[in-house]
Amino acid sequence: MNCCVVGLQWGDEGKGKIVDILAEDSDIVVRYGGGANAGHTVVVDDNSFALHLLPSGVIRPDTVCVITNAVVVDPETLITEIEALDERGISLQGRLWVSENANMVMSYHKQEDRLREESLGKNKIGTTIRGIGPCCSDKIGRSYALRICDLTDLDALRNKLQAVAEYKSRIFTAVYQADPVDADELFEMCKSYADKLLGFITDTTEFLHRQIAAGKSILFEGAQGTLLDIDHGTFPFVTSSNSSALGMPAGAGVPARMVDKFIGVAKAYTTRVGAGPFPTEQDNEIGQYIRDKGHEYGTTTGRPRRCGWFDAVAASYSVNIGGIDSIALVHLDTLSGLEELKVCKAYEIDGRETAFFTPGGAKLSRTRCIYETVAGWQEDISTVEDFADLPQNAQNYISLLESIVGKPIAIIGVGPKRSQTIFR
Ligand code: GDP
Ligand code: IMO
Ligand code: MG
Repeated sequence: MNCCVVGLQWGDEGKGKIVDILAEDSDIVVRYGGGANAGHTVVVDDNSFALHLLPSGVIRPDTVCVITNAVVVDPETLITEIEALDERGISLQGRLWVSENANMVMSYHKQEDRLREESLGKNKIGTTIRGIGPCCSDKIGRSYALRICDLTDLDALRNKLQAVAEYKSRIFTAVYQADPVDADELFEMCKSYADKLLGFITDTTEFLHRQIAAGKSILFEGAQGTLLDIDHGTFPFVTSSNSSALGMPAGAGVPARMVDKFIGVAKAYTTRVGAGPFPTEQDNEIGQYIRDKGHEYGTTTGRPRRCGWFDAVAASYSVNIGGIDSIALVHLDTLSGLEELKVCKAYEIDGRETAFFTPGGAKLSRTRCIYETVAGWQEDISTVEDFADLPQNAQNYISLLESIVGKPIAIIGVGPKRSQTIFR
């Protein structure tokens, strides 16, 4: 059985926790997109792990982990993560494979990300400053892109870096009045990356197809969320990759028909970090209640997340375009204590009612949400193990979401730990 886990909202849905749980029944966990902009939290007993590039299967000692072609890999972050886990007694030697064809995020990409955001002032995207946009631009532009396989031929890489540094220096000094880029410094960095990473590099597409042929079960782990997808999200307030389920086949080099089940992860409410339209946002005491109770601060940047009601219009869109089979709904516990809950079941845009999400920014910012209001529950549900033991109003809330989104909610999260999960 091969599964794919993907976010249905604007990222941070709780994919890390769900992947860690499902990894118990998988041989291999694959990160197929995004980069170190992701922050996936896995909580095991009293230990918390924040993973940016490594797949959320790494915590399980026998799980093989793969980072495929479409991930933009920051070697510095990758090495830091590998070493940090090693220090905690989790070794990745012999069970982590990184694609030789993945593009590399370099220090100048992160610098360019920051300079570009600063130059935009109040119109900035609110990126994670992890160099994602500039690296993906170079990937699409091709001529100045660097890939992991470049670390295997340092002589050729030295020449490439010379050309890249000259080109970037011209842009940095002319456009941003910033310092030029030093080719020798880059080369020294790359030598140390090669030193530490060569043993992990392979052709991951060949590797995965061999494993599939051998009957291994694979879990594909999405990064970001469907509404941040470069082609199908709330452009320009998106990331630079296809972060919906549609990005999985291209990202991994494995056709979608080899995946038996697409699982969409959503929170029982909605959050967003960074700028951009957010129709159900509650910039008030409700949003603050959710932020405080759900600890809604970014794993990667520490920024407070914007919070609002569950947007069933947006979630249905993500389910539809991603071919989602079932939903994992987390953070139900965070809604405990609210008198009443609202669910957005339709939008009114320019006087017209619609239940179809429209990602175009201008229209979305003119949206009025049409809500269904239901009674909340006061009980602490963080130790509930069976659906039948949830308060009736919590059960009703789940049924309401299922009826609007049209897919079963098969997994319910009532806390960050593995044990705080209800399976139906
Ligand atoms: P990801 O990027 O999709 O992996 O999500 P993040 O890790 O960035 O953010 C999700 C946060 O919610 C993490 O801190 C998780 O530990 C936490 N979390 C996951 N599921 C639940 C849940 O059901 N209840 C609560 N209270 N926290 C959860
Ligand atoms: P995970 O995998 C939440 C958001 C940023 C910003 C926009 C563009 O943890 O769910 P980028 O750095 O990609 O150029 O930023 O996308 N963003 C995320 N938001 N979770 C993420 O990843 C995100 N990755 C990027 O906040 O709005
Ligand atoms: Mg996250």
